[in-house]
Amino acid sequence: MSVKARAVAASYRAFYSLLLARIPETTSISIGQARLRTLPLDALGVFRSADSRLAVTLGGVRLPNPLILSSMYYDPAILARAMGLGFGAVTAKSITPQARPGHPEPNLVRVITAAGPGLVNCNGFRNPGLDAYRRMIAAMPHRVPLIVAAAGESIEDYVAVVRGLAPFGDLVEFNISSPNTALVYEWSRKPDELRRLFHTVRAVTDRPLIVKLSPDFADENERTIIPAAIEAGIRIVNYGNTRRIAEPRLSQGTGGLSGPELLPATLANLRRTRAAFGDQLEVIATGGIDSPLAALAALRAGATACGYFTGFITKGPILARMILDALSRALDRAGTTSVEEWRGSAR
Ligand SMILES: Cc1cc2nc3c(=O)[nH]c(=O)nc-3n(C[C@H](O)[C@H](O)[C@H](O)COP(=O)(O)O)c2cc1C
Repeated sequence: MSVKARAVAASYRAFYSLLLARIPETTSISIGQARLRTLPLDALGVFRSADSRLAVTLGGVRLPNPLILSSMYYDPAILARAMGLGFGAVTAKSITPQARPGHPEPNLVRVITAAGPGLVNCNGFRNPGLDAYRRMIAAMPHRVPLIVAAAGESIEDYVAVVRGLAPFGDLVEFNISSPNTALVYEWSRKPDELRRLFHTVRAVTDRPLIVKLSPDFADENERTIIPAAIEAGIRIVNYGNTRRIAEPRLSQGTGGLSGPELLPATLANLRRTRAAFGDQLEVIATGGIDSPLAALAALRAGATACGYFTGFITKGPILARMILDALSRALDRAGTTSVEEWRGSAR
């Protein structure tokens, strides 16, 4: 890593540990998001890699590298900024047909797990709703591909959101796995309805579709959900969302755990999915990737791409550059000319 990147990483560590991690989570989120909105960090080259060997394709769409900002932000100003901060693609928040206020505060708390700092949220899909969001993102430039995301409680909900958002995204993710809204989380327990959902959504758009899975349903995913997705012609899974846990500090008493505690399950689910379905699927490994080592482990185990959100908060925007530089060094060592050739070398 360059001296400049090291300095940026150290100054974010100080900003996070001395300020953001010490104030209430809601205040620290407003400060962090305000800085992202206003500071032109993406004008600085230090966050990006120019290594063309890192390019990959996902659902036929070219990404300049295999790192994806996972779904959480919906503000186009933040998404556009993140597009210049080293990611190969950026995912927008899951949008529902109608605006939702989300669950009351506290809806996000920090946790220190044995593996490192994480978050537990019960956000409950706070979002402006489909019509308003279409207007918000219509003019957004795509410096890297944008993945739009849908959530819903019925097949009609997904159809409306996927149809409405697909023209503005390069890929479309549909979320059947957030643990904070009972009706979304319950999809994994309704295989027959899910099968209909997959077929119906597949017919609505010709954009590449990603289904986002829950790590809490690994057996169901392998037995019924992934086969149903493949049968419907869906070729990308994002494995996955947060893990449902009890958290008495949150307004709902439960929430979704994110951060490095999830990494062992993410790698195990990735390996299990590759072993069962081979190359029929492209897999985005998400959950606990917050270091170069973790990202390289996922790619070596056969991930097509890696997603993260919590690492963006706890390690800062420089994490992408740290991972990309480590990936370039791994390609140098292996003497390979592309990440697509190197990927899966531990399978
Ligand atoms: C505050 C918060 C809000 C999130 N909102 C969404 C969402 O709207 N849709 C979704 O699919 N995932 C959502 N996620 C899950 C993340 O996209 C990601 O799958 C999860 O946090 C695991 O990755 P990580 O350990 O890198 O954070 C959210 C996570 C957090 C912490």
